[in-house]
Amino acid sequence: MKILLLGKNGQVGWELQRSLAPLGELIALDRHAVDGLFGDLSDLDGLRATIRQVKPDVIVNAAAYTAVDKAESETELADRVNGQACQVMAEETASLGAWLIHYSTDYVFSGQGSTPWQETDAVAPVNHYGISKVAGEQAIIASGCKHLIFRTSWGYGTRGNNFAKTMLRLAKEQETLSVISDQVGAPTGADLIADVTALAIQQVMQRPELAGLYHLAASGEVSWHGYASHVIDFAQANGEQLAVTAINPIETIAYPTPARRPLNSRLNTQKLRDNFSLHLPDWQSGVTRMLREVLNK
Ligand SMILES: NC(=O)c1ccc[n+]([C@@H]2O[C@H](COP(=O)([O-])OP(=O)(O)OC[C@H]3O[C@@H](n4cnc5c(N)ncnc54)[C@H](OP(=O)(O)O)[C@@H]3O)[C@@H](O)[C@H]2O)c1
Repeated sequence: MKILLLGKNGQVGWELQRSLAPLGELIALDRHAVDGLFGDLSDLDGLRATIRQVKPDVIVNAAAYTAVDKAESETELADRVNGQACQVMAEETASLGAWLIHYSTDYVFSGQGSTPWQETDAVAPVNHYGISKVAGEQAIIASGCKHLIFRTSWGYGTRGNNFAKTMLRLAKEQETLSVISDQVGAPTGADLIADVTALAIQQVMQRPELAGLYHLAASGEVSWHGYASHVIDFAQANGEQLAVTAINPIETIAYPTPARRPLNSRLNTQKLRDNFSLHLPDWQSGVTRMLREVLNK
């Protein structure tokens, strides 16, 4: 099996390099051209030519325009990378008879209520990033290509920056932290996303009727405030010297950002767990593992 991985150095892409490697020949690209292959999703012609040259059995697209606030002003670029590039991938995947594996987000939803979102719920994004991700999903589904789309939420990886690392840094510098308490979701590790992707690819090869749209997140739920408290409690319990003495809950309204955020980021993952016979661990186990790596504990 030949797999073309796009976005190899993102949080999820990095972990996919590991989890996809045992499945077959892996050609992994970032946005830079290498050996006449173009992984820049804003270059639609280059992307099409690259897929035609590689002729993969599976495309895994971990590349995306993920700068949520910047997407409010760079709308064209966000639309090209998150929408039109998916259209190109989907068309080429369909004509090859290949599979397209893609990632989307809970930001396709309005964020209203407190019920975990199901795959069948209506989309109603509240910011441009969400709008561009909906466009990508719809292009893939409309193309008729064989696909898996995983909507995930609150992603983190051990590589690069993440929310937990930011909280640890601030907790060393400040006595008081203010963290949003009315947005609720499930922190989901890039390693879990990558592992589920590899397991799902293996299964759809045998059972193509499992193709479709799935919600993929760790189990349980927490607010950003609860997440920050978990991180800081863990660090203190493991001997980290922190300046912080209080973590104050604040509402989203008190922390204005260029892009609105949905309050309810809960994803119902029943369909994924049932169709693929998978267990999704609780968010604490993944976060604790990541903290042990980050803090070397
Ligand atoms: N992280 C989350 O909280 C979260 C939540 C829900 C859904 N998702 C989805 O999960 C998927 C993986 O995201 P992630 O968490 O791994 O995000 P990430 O760490 O921001 O990675 C995105 C990758 O896409 C690359 N990229 C951006 N523009 C590109 C372009 N024009 N051409 C090629 N590559 C480009 C980035 O490369 P550079 O580093 O060179 O810019 C980066 O390596 C995305 O579809 C995202 O929408 C993420």
